[in-house]
Amino acid sequence: MNISDKIIIALDFPTTEEAKKIVEELGDEATTYKVGLELFLNSKGSMVDYLVKKNKKVFLDLKFHDIPNTTAMASIFAAHEKCFMFNVHASGGKKMMTEVAKKVKEFNKEVLVIAVTILTSISETELKETFSSTFSLKELALNLAKITKQSGLDGIVCSPWEANDIKKECGHNFKTICPGVRPLWSLTNDQERIMTPYNAILNGCDFLVIGRPITKHENPKLGFNLILDEIKLALQVQK
Ligand code: C5P
Repeated sequence: MNISDKIIIALDFPTTEEAKKIVEELGDEATTYKVGLELFLNSKGSMVDYLVKKNKKVFLDLKFHDIPNTTAMASIFAAHEKCFMFNVHASGGKKMMTEVAKKVKEFNKEVLVIAVTILTSISETELKETFSSTFSLKELALNLAKITKQSGLDGIVCSPWEANDIKKECGHNFKTICPGVRPLWSLTNDQERIMTPYNAILNGCDFLVIGRPITKHENPKLGFNLILDEIKLALQVQK
């Protein structure tokens, strides 16, 4: 794996034209991109083909959440699309995640299947109202992370602030995929619990999902390279 694979660039654009422009602009060094619901649907899936043809790695961020058979069949499709990583909702349950892991790994052992625990848009209050839960967000998220691991999936999406604890609970090989990363020179936008790329790597993040600090940078390639330099420095310190 190249160090640049650790930066997953979030292609949060409504149109393929805008998304392709940034991919072209970033060139060879940027290897890995996230395609979410908006771009996937708007491009009718063609954005994934475009990226795969350009030898880019694709994290398909569609967050599957359905009964085990339906989710597993959709997952085979995601693996078939040559995505390097895709995700499901951990709240779909152990049976669902186990079925997904089994079916996908039979088909393609390389693809990383990860889970979303609790959406960060959900507050402690909303959690209690929606699920009548007496557990805190943190307790529930950690429990879902453990179930994800037991189900045979490869990792979870989490805040860089939680990555270290997740690794302690679920093991070093369990992957942490972390949004909420901001270099010191960048705007925070609507992200609240942010961490710099340097600290995020030291705190146990395997992949950093970064959008606007790169895609809205006046010179996206420079933004990308500055972040890459921070990551390289952290990896040297970590050795
Ligand atoms: O532009 P920015 O770096 O904030 O983009 C972060 C990406 O990570 C966006 O695509 C966002 O939807 C996604 N994400 C997030 N927080 C989560 C899960 C996903 O910011 N908890």
